Amino acid sequence: MSKFILTPEQRAAAELLDRNVLLSAGAGCGKTSTLVERYVNILKDGRADVASIAAITFTEKAANELNVRVHSRLRELYEEARDPQSRRLWRERLLAVESAEIGTIHGFGACRPGFSCGRGRRGRRASRRRRARRAL
Ligand SMILES: Nc1ncnc2c1ncn2[C@@H]1O[C@H](COP(=O)(O)OP(=O)(O)OP(=O)(O)O)[C@@H](O)[C@H]1O
Ligand SMILES: [Mg+2]
Repeated sequence: MSKFILTPEQRAAAELLDRNVLLSAGAGCGKTSTLVERYVNILKDGRADVASIAAITFTEKAANELNVRVHSRLRELYEEARDPQSRRLWRERLLAVESAEIGTIHGFGACRPGFSCGRGRRGRRASRRRRARRAL
């Protein structure tokens, strides 16, 4: 369970997966939290796997925060899962998120086919992967 109850607007944005959603709210109103829940709901619903979701933001700081928060929410779901099959699923997702497309708009553009990826980005991903494997 996430640690708080989503407001009706947050719930709508996190749960209406069959349409595009524009969520506009002031600073600290829960935009990132809602996006993380939407990300998780897409996985729960089986609409896409981690490798097929692009979660993109503008600044490195926001991208890092989003990364950490998606990661920690997936870890929470993995730890809460009781039956072996769902435990395996959340574990796979937790590992997959290490190389997921959660980053900046400029980083996303740079990694599309036909463009080249910086070594720094690959290096950061590899070290995140190593950390996640050690922790499981
Ligand atoms: N429905 C809610 N009930 C209680 N707390 C909430 C709720 N939604 C978000 N929060 C809390 O509010 C704080 C800010 O949330 P969050 O970081 O998601 O906001 P934000 O809109 O992304 O902020 P920023 O504008 O700084 O990017 C967090 O501590 C989060 O746990
Ligand atoms: Mg935010």
